[in-house]
Amino acid sequence: MKSFTNNNGTFYNGDCISGAVTHIPDNSIDLIITDPPYGINGDKLQKHYNRNEEFVIEGYVEIPQTEYADFSLKWITQAERVLKPGGSIYIVSGYTNLIDILNALRQTDLKEINHIIWKYNFGVFTRQKYISSHYHILFYEKPGGRRTFNLESRFGLVEKTEEGRSHNNADREDVWIINREYKPGQIKNKNELPMKLLTKMIQYSSNEGDLVGDFFLGGFSTAKVAIGLNRRVIGFEISEAMYDAKIIEMEKIIPGQLISNLRSPSIKEIKNLGQSWTEEDYVKLTKRFTSLNANGKNKKQIIAELGEEFGRGHWAIEKALKKSDIKFVKKSKAGKLTDFLEK
Ligand SMILES: C[S@@+](CC[C@H](N)C(=O)[O-])C[C@H]1O[C@@H](n2cnc3c(N)ncnc32)[C@H](O)[C@@H]1O
Repeated sequence: MKSFTNNNGTFYNGDCISGAVTHIPDNSIDLIITDPPYGINGDKLQKHYNRNEEFVIEGYVEIPQTEYADFSLKWITQAERVLKPGGSIYIVSGYTNLIDILNALRQTDLKEINHIIWKYNFGVFTRQKYISSHYHILFYEKPGGRRTFNLESRFGLVEKTEEGRSHNNADREDVWIINREYKPGQIKNKNELPMKLLTKMIQYSSNEGDLVGDFFLGGFSTAKVAIGLNRRVIGFEISEAMYDAKIIEMEKIIPGQLISNLRSPSIKEIKNLGQSWTEEDYVKLTKRFTSLNANGKNKKQIIAELGEEFGRGHWAIEKALKKSDIKFVKKSKAGKLTDFLEK
C-alpha cells in the first residue's frame, strides 16, 4: 500500500479495512473523526450538493447501497479495535445510510455519548418538500478508560453571550450551526468538512500530541486541521487520484500552525476546588447566606458572591447550602416573606 509519512502524519493510499488490520495496532488511537462515503449514486450526489463540479477531483469511491451495511460493520469494528479505551469517535453521516451505521455501532461495545445534528447552509433547492440542511454526527466512546473532554477548551464556564447565556453551554448544545466552506476554484473532494466543525471536535476530544485517525481522508481536511492543531494523524484514502492530489498539500502543513488562531477562553481559577468543607466553613456560609438574603439579593446572585468568597464553584455552593439546610427566603408578591428552597 502506497504511504507517506511526514513529522506528524502517516497516510495510506488504500482500503481502510485491510489497511487498519495491517498498519494500526490495537488500542493505539486517541480520537477518530471520520466521514465515510454516503452510499449515494455519484450523479445524484452532484445534484444533491447543487454546485459546479469542475474542481471536484474524480475518483471519489462510493460504496453500493447493497453493500453498505456490511461495509459499515467491517470498518467500525476496526475503528473500535484501534481506539484506546476512553478514546472517542465521531462519525459524520447523511440520513440515507444512517441506519446501517447505527446498526453497526450497536454490534460493537462502543457507547453513545451524543447524537449531534450539524446544520449547514447550501441546502438543495426543492419546491414540494422541506430543504435538507443537516447531517448526523454520532459521537461514541470506547469504554474502559477516561475519556478526554476539554470542557473549557473553547469557552470558559464564566463567559456569557450578549444575551446573558452561558457561552460554554451554548457551544456544547448538540445542534451545531456551521456553514460549509465554499471553495470556488480550488481542487477539492466531493464533500469536504468545514474547518470550524473539525476544530470543535478536535479541541473538545483530544490534546496536543494525541493521535487522531481518519479512515476516509477524502480531501484530508481532518488531517490538515489536526496537524495544524499539533495532533498526530494516521489515515486512509482509497482513491489514488485524490490521495496524490492531497498529499502534496500535506507536505506544506506545519504542525501547530492553527493554534494561534484559536480564541483564548477566559477561565476562572476556583481556589478551593475539590477541598472538603470544615464545620467552620458551614457556619460561615450560613451566616453570609442569611445576611445576603436579608439584603434582598436573589439566589443566583448570592451563590455567585459566595462562590467568590469561598473560592468554590456554583455546584459546590449549592451542595453545601443543601447540606446545611439553608433556606432561601423570598418576598412574596403580597409583600410577605415566604420560605422556600429554590430548586
Ligand atoms: C465523504 S469523503 C471524505 C471527505 C473528507 N472528510 C473531507 O473532509 O474531505 C469519503 C472518502 O472515502 C473514500 N473511500 C471510499 N471507500 C474507502 C475505503 N474502503 N477506504 C478508504 N477510503 C475510502 C472516498 O474515495 C472518499 O474520498
